[in-house]
Amino acid sequence: MKTGLHPEPTVFVIFGAGGDLAWRKLVPALYNLFLDGWMPGEYEILGLGHGEMSEEDYRTHLRKGVDDFSRRGTAEKDSWNDFASHVSFLNAELGNSKVYTDMAKKLSALDKKWNVHANYIFYLALPPSLIGDVVNELAAARLNGEQARIVVEKPFGNDLESARELNSRLREVFKENQIFRIDHYLGKETVQNILAFRFGNALFEPVWNRLYIDHVQITVAEDVGVEHRGHYYEKAGALRDMIQNHLLQILCLVAMEAPISLNDNEVRNKKVDVLNTVRPILPEWVHQHVVSGQYGTGWIAGKHVKGYRSEPNVAGDSTTETFAALRLFIDTWRWQGVPFYMRTGKRLPAKISEVSIQFRAVPHQTFPPAALRDWHPNRLIISIQPEEGIFLRFQSKYPGPVMRLSPVMMQFYYRETFDISPADAYETLLLDVMIGDATLFMRADQAEAAWSVLSPILEAWDLSKPTDFPNYQAGTWGPEEADTLIAQDGFNWASPTYLQCQDETATCRVSMEPRS
Ligand code: BG6
Repeated sequence: MKTGLHPEPTVFVIFGAGGDLAWRKLVPALYNLFLDGWMPGEYEILGLGHGEMSEEDYRTHLRKGVDDFSRRGTAEKDSWNDFASHVSFLNAELGNSKVYTDMAKKLSALDKKWNVHANYIFYLALPPSLIGDVVNELAAARLNGEQARIVVEKPFGNDLESARELNSRLREVFKENQIFRIDHYLGKETVQNILAFRFGNALFEPVWNRLYIDHVQITVAEDVGVEHRGHYYEKAGALRDMIQNHLLQILCLVAMEAPISLNDNEVRNKKVDVLNTVRPILPEWVHQHVVSGQYGTGWIAGKHVKGYRSEPNVAGDSTTETFAALRLFIDTWRWQGVPFYMRTGKRLPAKISEVSIQFRAVPHQTFPPAALRDWHPNRLIISIQPEEGIFLRFQSKYPGPVMRLSPVMMQFYYRETFDISPADAYETLLLDVMIGDATLFMRADQAEAAWSVLSPILEAWDLSKPTDFPNYQAGTWGPEEADTLIAQDGFNWASPTYLQCQDETATCRVSMEPRS
């Protein structure tokens, strides 16, 4: 996590440079870093991909990606030309050793030209099956020395065993401090802000425990379907695609103990402690703690959309889950008995990620029943997207001659307070890789611990395939069983605050309107 360093000369090598990630995310992020003055004085971006493409064509292709996906919109001509003059493309067969020896020559020529030992960043935007061979080739070409860093995209393995295998292959070649396992959620401003909020304020930490917190909900909802990723998603599903990484990482930030410093290993130690203390869900308990779902046809924003099984590259009888909800407990003094509910899904009503922390009821109600008709417990909401902010629901006296409590919302919006467009997660993370700060990246043990949490669920699901899929309509909040999961404990899923407050605090206002 940056605290003011500037990156040293860097060569950025993107494997899978012709793919979507490079086009939509990596290059727009690097270009924005350039515009913000974060790129080093000396840098080069080398894309490795398949296909005959001239450098000029590649740059034109990248520029279109920037125009379409950069937070700043269309690239400005002069700055783009300056940035693009540092970009080149190599049509490369990844299994061919010569590619790596040629690359080694090219990199050392750059070192000579710049008269430095530049950092080499190898960004593997590749399927996991190719990673082992690529790192071996890098080692054979002696490209794994101190100046090299390797970035590995998710999915990091497909289960605990494959993650261990991948870790051991990576570590045969690179040291742990050279390996950056990326989870783009950790680069989101509000996700990082959980650390600032919890550990930069004295006010909240004393109540951040089982004595005051009733339960926690983490929702990461998407309105999109599986889009063109059916081939990948069929083997992944919501649990592997979202929970194993993004949601468990958010859980770690919400539940971790206070780190002594922002040192990368210190923060990661505290986070991995959370994963290691998640109470194991035994296979025979899976059906009581976990719900899966798959979307059928339905309506999103007034448009009829098809069901998952009719998406491209998806089997007509697929049993892949596009929705998952679970209840976890963390076996520590701080969290004993506090349920953590998580849910994520595709084709839900809106794209919304938020953490909702519900506090306990007051120990004694001072007010008469008539004053409490609208009473609700305190709730703190960390809104990750689409609107980044923090909201606190508390009780206030409704104006008037009689005593009546009414819930109101205290709101902090990043957009309004700081009046800047926050950096995209990839900007933050790529800069961290250039600086060599791994705080926001998954360490080997974190990735494995996250798989361990999910292993019994994956095993149980493998043994008994769902027979009721599709079990939720596109455009709804998932299968009914997800409501039952939380209702059994006497709660319900919090209606996302963003939707409530979107229209100038609509619900916040509704709850303040006089009762008829
Ligand atoms: C990716 C998943 O990691 O995260 C996708 O593979 C998902 O399936 C995406 O759509 C969501 O990311 P964001 O930043 O749009 O919430």
